[in-house]
Amino acid sequence: MNNQKNLSQTPFPVDVVIMAAGKGTRMKSKLPKVLHQLAGRALLQHVVDTAAELLARQVVVITGHGAIEVEAAFATSVRAAATFGINFVRQEPQLGTGHAVQQAMPALQDDGIVVVLSGDVPLTRADTLQALIAACAGDKLALLTIDFANPTGYGRIEREGDAVQAIVEQKDANAAQLAITEVYSGIMAVPAKQLKTWLARLDNENAQAEFYLTQVVKFAVADGVPVVAYKITDAVQVAGVNSPVQLAELERAYQRDLAMQLMEQGVRLADPARLDVRGKLQCAQDVSIDVNCVFEGQVSLGEGVRIGANCVIANATIAAGAVIHPFTHIEGGPPGSKAAVWVGEGALIGPFARLRPGAHLGADVHIGNFVEVKNSTLAKGAKANHLAYLGDAVVGERVNYGAGSITANYDGAFKHRTTIEADVHIGSNCVLVAPITIGAGGTVGGGSTLTKDTSPGALSVARGKQISIANWTRPKK
Ligand code: UD1
Ligand code: CA
Repeated sequence: MNNQKNLSQTPFPVDVVIMAAGKGTRMKSKLPKVLHQLAGRALLQHVVDTAAELLARQVVVITGHGAIEVEAAFATSVRAAATFGINFVRQEPQLGTGHAVQQAMPALQDDGIVVVLSGDVPLTRADTLQALIAACAGDKLALLTIDFANPTGYGRIEREGDAVQAIVEQKDANAAQLAITEVYSGIMAVPAKQLKTWLARLDNENAQAEFYLTQVVKFAVADGVPVVAYKITDAVQVAGVNSPVQLAELERAYQRDLAMQLMEQGVRLADPARLDVRGKLQCAQDVSIDVNCVFEGQVSLGEGVRIGANCVIANATIAAGAVIHPFTHIEGGPPGSKAAVWVGEGALIGPFARLRPGAHLGADVHIGNFVEVKNSTLAKGAKANHLAYLGDAVVGERVNYGAGSITANYDGAFKHRTTIEADVHIGSNCVLVAPITIGAGGTVGGGSTLTKDTSPGALSVARGKQISIANWTRPKK
């Protein structure tokens, strides 16, 4: 909503160019830098998602080092496909940031505002970029800048009076320029038409013999196009990832921010520094989350849900009043699919429980320690409290599933269903060889291996009869 409102103030189409051709040597990784993950998403995905928030008309990603891998990763990215098509343009060899953006220009229309971003700067906020676009207003060159006490390595914003004259790169700067603390963030918004003419005039006569994008400032000044600096104070928004240390720092910054947002909504976090959300976490009122929990994909927690310490929960909906005890692992399949996990109202799960894709638990279900549930539906009030496996099963209301019991659902080639009707009592250590149906209200004696359906209300026992020999003398050596 906010995005739409702001965009309507600048009636220009926005096209986003993302530079991602650089090598990322300091990551010391085979994986291209922009594919490293922050909060469960590739760095480049963050930038693409921000472009989506801007309602960008088009996104052009400039690839170079690891281009094939980067392009392949995004070809299969559902999220990217869902927003808009991404255009990849190769930059080979990499002759500088100006040269990088030059490669994108043929793909861009003349009537838009081009926003230049970097694939390794993941946490720029969309509202910051909207303000930058507003500052560009279709006829100015707008630079995102920031003051750094230590500006080493950055391009300095050189002014005459108030007016921006140039960006001077570290390696080209004289002593006076080096003392400037206002730096260029690497992000600009610029009318496409002007950008095209300026890029055509770039040279590489500088200390690094590179084609600098930042040279366009001089051309703007020469052409009488106003250059505006939009200065922010939040360094996280312009921080790039060059090393594992910086990646971890930004991960923490992201998680801290998210934890603050959750607490502002009323979520009680035992320790905001020990929460990791790698996706979307939705919380109703009075949710509490103990330390060291990881949420992945889409997780929704209903009113009053309590999550114990050290739980990992992915792609699950947990209904009001349910309690997930410590060390529980919930691993749902894709959100919105039948493989996503559902935990009903007031259910008690764990400690040490494992819910796998397709676990659908009704209200007041109890799943205890070392119980694994996969692709199974348990109706209201069903219980499996200890050391058990339920796979490909449909379990009726109030069923009690004994310790150590399993569904033998796999014959080596095919999976088969187990149906346990309402009010059945399965003793301990039973094997239910699927396909099989245990009739309603039936009882299965402990230690039974059942291969045939049982009728409602029956007691079924399928095990060796007990033999006791009185006064047995054990063999002696
Ligand atoms: C650039 C700016 C500098 C600014 C800094 C902010 C230039 C000349 N300088 O510095 O003013 O303060 O960013 O971080 O633009 N890339 C390519 N192709 C290339 C070169 C770079 O795609 O040929 C990509 C990199 O992968 C990276 C981004 O462009 O994502 C910035 O490159 P980097 O080398 O970090 O920028 P600097 O030149 O250090
Ligand atoms: Ca840099």
